[in-house]
Amino acid sequence: MPAEGCVVVIGGNRGIGREIAKHYADAGHEVVVSCTDADRATAAAADIGGTTTGVALDLTRPHEIASALAAVGPVRHLVIVAIDRDDNRVREYDVDRALRLVTLKLVGYTEVIHSLLDRLDDESSIVLFGGLAKDRPYPGSTTVTTVNGGVVGMVVTLATELAPIRINAIHPGIVGDSPFWKDKSLDHILARTPTKRLVQMADIVDAVRFLLENPSVNAIDLRVDGGWMIM
Ligand SMILES: NC(=O)c1ccc[n+]([C@@H]2O[C@H](COP(=O)([O-])OP(=O)(O)OC[C@H]3O[C@@H](n4cnc5c(N)ncnc54)[C@H](OP(=O)(O)O)[C@@H]3O)[C@@H](O)[C@H]2O)c1
Repeated sequence: MPAEGCVVVIGGNRGIGREIAKHYADAGHEVVVSCTDADRATAAAADIGGTTTGVALDLTRPHEIASALAAVGPVRHLVIVAIDRDDNRVREYDVDRALRLVTLKLVGYTEVIHSLLDRLDDESSIVLFGGLAKDRPYPGSTTVTTVNGGVVGMVVTLATELAPIRINAIHPGIVGDSPFWKDKSLDHILARTPTKRLVQMADIVDAVRFLLENPSVNAIDLRVDGGWMIM
């Protein structure tokens, strides 16, 4: 019998977030998924099945997050997955794009947690999504690298402030079967992956489940990349 409280997946209508939501819905949990549009959120919830509901929420509009989440009940697990990818180089710096992603990740993620705090209890846990651009930048990753580095800071400060609530982050490698990557050539990634296989969405779901549910895992930044970072 699932523990009390729902599983909230911010950015749970598609991609990796949807797989996490589906895992918990199939296990009998009440699930809430968000995306940026109410109709698509409702459609995604129906498609995921079980006891899943959808909410519309835009992390780049942090003042509106609390009201968007007002109807959510007690929360057992909170997973913040959402991203709006950014290609931004310092020589051609796009301030509006940078502000959008910084707001989404550093302010939006934090405001989701702040807004739901009165529905979390001592047994609740949180997982944030980062990415390995924090350690391995590429041209155009200036904002992505910066905000994913910021996730590392959020984990330690929030684990301190919110104790005993646990908070961890996951930093996936390229996820080969995720919708964003599945039709792109990834031979160069495979060539540098010691396991000789691309990370799969199921691997990320399994790692998120571990971070959410293991009662002694706290303030961790977990790399899930098949060892790509050592090559
Ligand atoms: N896929 C990979 O290989 C990979 C690798 C490393 C890290 N990651 C990280 O893993 C996470 C999931 O990646 P993914 O590829 O599965 O993502 P995705 O398929 O691109 O889905 C992005 C999600 O974020 C939501 N979103 C976009 N803009 C938003 C906004 N302004 N406010 C609130 N929600 C917003 C989207 O909702 P809408 O449908 O409304 O746009 C959608 O639910 C991300 O944090 C990503 O950085 C992924």
